Amino acid sequence: MAKIAIILGHPDPAESRLCRALAKAYQEGASSKKHDAILIDVATLDFPFLRSQEDWSAGRENTPPALFGPQAAIEAADHIVIIYPLWLGTMPAMLKAFLEQTLRPGVALKYDQGMPKGLFQGKSARVIVTMGMPAFFYRWWFWAHSLRNLERNILGLVGISPIRRTLYGAIEQQGYAEISTWLDEMRDLGRQAL
Ligand SMILES: Cc1cc2nc3c(=O)[nH]c(=O)nc-3n(C[C@H](O)[C@H](O)[C@H](O)COP(=O)(O)O)c2cc1C
Repeated sequence: MAKIAIILGHPDPAESRLCRALAKAYQEGASSKKHDAILIDVATLDFPFLRSQEDWSAGRENTPPALFGPQAAIEAADHIVIIYPLWLGTMPAMLKAFLEQTLRPGVALKYDQGMPKGLFQGKSARVIVTMGMPAFFYRWWFWAHSLRNLERNILGLVGISPIRRTLYGAIEQQGYAEISTWLDEMRDLGRQAL
């Protein structure tokens, strides 16, 4: 049984969002195989932006109280799933703010003679991104640049490996059949804790 933290990074709490459906399908699949899968719905959390180096460096004790639970769930997880819509070429600001607040020194990394060392070694991750453009275009024309940033400069920095990815594109053009296939894929990945 794996411990899984599913971070739903869509700022809109509406049930109709595709990202929410994907997150719930993943959780459903995981729970059906008795994995311990917690869904962290960032849209429902009330927390401020991080505004200074001093605040970040103060570490765990400066984490906003609304994020104590989510932060503990991420620390306890063997596998972390992050789901978000591509907004202006990258993750929504609310998700970035969530990661800045939770992945603090003393929690996700430490500094050894000025060099960062990840504390999340042994954890794996999957990043799931939805977007208006075709997914191949984001990969080929944009080199998936913002996703690489998340993989290397955030998840890699804190020691997470391997990091897998699933991209769903041309969202507005998809019909019921395609979306059902994606939800099935999510359930399947959840069952495998992958
Ligand atoms: C503010 C905003 C910015 C967006 N920027 C992009 C973008 O840069 N590239 C893109 O392909 N789609 C973009 N989109 C489309 C969303 O990625 C797409 O609607 C979303 O992935 C659908 O998933 P959802 O139903 O969970 O919101 C944007 C949408 C919004 C609302």
